[in-house]
Amino acid sequence: MVKYETIVVVCATKEETMEQFVIKGGSPLNGRVDISGAKNAALAIIAAAIMTDDTVTIDNLPDVRDIRVMLGALEDIGASVSMVDKHTARINGSHINALSVDYEYIKKIRASYYLLGALLGKYKKAEVALPGGCAIGSRPIDLHIKGFKALGATVDTGYGLISARATELVGSHIYLDKVSVGATINILMAAALAEGKTVIENAAKEPHVVDVANFLNSMGANIRGAGTDVIRIVGVPSLHGTEYSVIPDQIEAGTFMFAAAATGGDVTVCNVIPKHLEATTAKLLEAGCEILEYDDAVRVVATDRKLFPTQVTTLPYPGFPTDMQPQMTVVLGLAEGTSTVTESIFENRFKYVGELARMGASIKVESNIAIITGVEKYTGARVSAPDLRAGAALVIAGLAADGITVVDDIYFIQRGYEDFEVKLRGLGATIEKLDDDREVQKFILKVS
Ligand code: UD1
Repeated sequence: MVKYETIVVVCATKEETMEQFVIKGGSPLNGRVDISGAKNAALAIIAAAIMTDDTVTIDNLPDVRDIRVMLGALEDIGASVSMVDKHTARINGSHINALSVDYEYIKKIRASYYLLGALLGKYKKAEVALPGGCAIGSRPIDLHIKGFKALGATVDTGYGLISARATELVGSHIYLDKVSVGATINILMAAALAEGKTVIENAAKEPHVVDVANFLNSMGANIRGAGTDVIRIVGVPSLHGTEYSVIPDQIEAGTFMFAAAATGGDVTVCNVIPKHLEATTAKLLEAGCEILEYDDAVRVVATDRKLFPTQVTTLPYPGFPTDMQPQMTVVLGLAEGTSTVTESIFENRFKYVGELARMGASIKVESNIAIITGVEKYTGARVSAPDLRAGAALVIAGLAADGITVVDDIYFIQRGYEDFEVKLRGLGATIEKLDDDREVQKFILKVS
């Protein structure tokens, strides 16, 4: 018989927190899943699209909440945005009438600070509400500011705003004290339209940094070395229109790979660049899964296999991504033995561990290290998604668990996963997105 906690649906105060995933776990995932475009690449590319007065068409955008918010931020400053279909946007930034991005956007997506680099590059002036910390850490932006200043901008922060302006931007030599995706991309955008040559040292090498550089180059920028730790940019006077397709989302792909591993399934993730998944692949191999790589797909076979413990440390690319840390922890929570997961990027990224413990996981967090003693199985419970990736990890735990799991606050998950439950159902999962107590009870009765 299926066991489950008594499900009490508490009225949520915000509409966005009402929906929940209800999962009946315990069955392996099997089949093929198509991966959407990379959210984090798309957010920066959308911001960069306003750097020309020509029209830019961007394809393979994931249909997720963060992207819709970013497109809304563009419209708010006067850009025109039209959707050709749900994955393709046509953007024209020739009628920008405000160089100021409201707190409304920055509080929903930190990445709206990319408009700082884009507007500063194009108009030599920009103002964006200061992003605060967030669920996973304090997340300072000192390196973005250091970069803009090095390019000759005056940058002020105060009254909840960050303002940057320059009479002209001049290329410079910038060393980033810490590898930062956001700072690398923001500086890259401003430097693309600066006078002369800029060198960014200790640059982030993430696939989305390369994608943004490729996008800007397709608009006429002169950027070399993206994907290595030294990026060289020769500023150009202006950029032109382009048509561009965003790379596949390595984090979404990895999430499905971990879901296959945790449920003992056999899943082929399609439309991916296997090279971007090497760290994930390496750790799943160590954990005992079989991995088969194809040109644009990766298959994870975990059927009838024992999971082994291993050690993981999150690092900048090509290291193991911090955005895959919670999903990996869920897999190791089912391994036979003790694993450690060290989080070296964000200081507050183990908040989901308490929720996972409610599902039977045995994890002790000491400072930035999670010590995981594998358990035979998780058990279904009611849990809350504390942030985007941890939310996805709890869904994976629910898929692997015995019984019914209800994941609340799935608003976070919807920020970054397109049709998550639909794709999971395509792999045989029993999962529904529901927002009504009666519907939840009906679902439980049906699947029990
Ligand atoms: C991006 C991703 C996020 C991912 C992270 C690390 C987007 C929209 N988000 O976030 O999903 O988890 O990369 O791969 O692409 N730091 C500073 N000063 C700065 C900037 C960063 O100290 O000015 C620190 C951060 O606090 C963190 C580290 O540098 O400890 C890396 O952060 P960063 O790479 O900048 O992350 P984001 O770009 O914010």
